This record gives sequence, C-alpha cells and structure tokens, in this order.
Amino acid sequence: MRDPSGPPRRLRASTGLHFAVDIKPLFRERDRRAMTFLFDLWDYEAVKSNADAILAATATGDMPCDGAWPVERVDLLRHWIEGGCQP
Ligand code: HEM
Repeated sequence: MRDPSGPPRRLRASTGLHFAVDIKPLFRERDRRAMTFLFDLWDYEAVKSNADAILAATATGDMPCDGAWPVERVDLLRHWIEGGCQP
C-alpha cells in the first residue's frame, strides 16, 4: 500500500511516468545507435544522468537530427524529469 505520508497529490501525479513504460519507447533503435558515442538512450541510469541535456536537445528540435519531436513528446519527457526520473 502507498505510504499515506508520501508526497502531496500534485507531485504524485507527475510521478506516474516511468522510464521503462513511458520514456524508453520514445527512443528508436536508430536514436540509440547514433548516440552511443555519448550515452545509451535505452539505459535508465544514462538517460537519468543526462536528462537535462536530452530535454534541451529535443525541446530545441536539434535532436533527433532527422526530425524534431512533437511538443507532446517533449512534454512527456519533461514531466518524467519533473516527477523525479522514475525507473
Ligand atoms: C545531450 C543530448 C544530445 C547531444 C549533445 C547530441 C549530439 C549529437 C551529435 C553531435 C550527433 C552527430 C552529428 C549529427 O548528426 O548531428 C548526433 C547524432 C544523432 N542524434 Fe543526437 N544528441 C543528443 C541527444 C539525442 C536524442 C535525445 C536523440 C533522439 C531522441 C538523438 C538522436 C540522434 C540521431 C538520430 C542522430 C543521427 C543523425 C544521423 O547520423 O543521421 N540525439 N547527436
């Protein structure tokens, strides 16, 4: 059961996103291959450690280099980060 003394409801709402379910599938095999020189986009710890840079790159449309993400996709990533990068 959830700890009733946990974070307030507003914070809890944004923790509903998880890397394995919501974030990892955003990265194509092609993205992963292209970016291995910097980090592994399918690895939780790597994405968590580089989350701000990854958000910046996708929000500006610089990455992926073959077509910017739609804003909803960038927002999903942002909400996952704001929710504390849940695995
Ligand atoms: C810290 C964030 C990132 C940095 C600094 C970064 C930097 C780079 C650089 C320097 C290249 C090689 C040169 C180029 O083709 O432009 C590259 C290629 C690429 N990146 Fe990123 N990247 C980042 C995040 C991402 C993310 C989050 C994705 C996917 C969602 C992505 C997808 C790609 C793809 C698909 C290529 C291959 C382009 C090609 O060879 O056709 N990158 N990235």
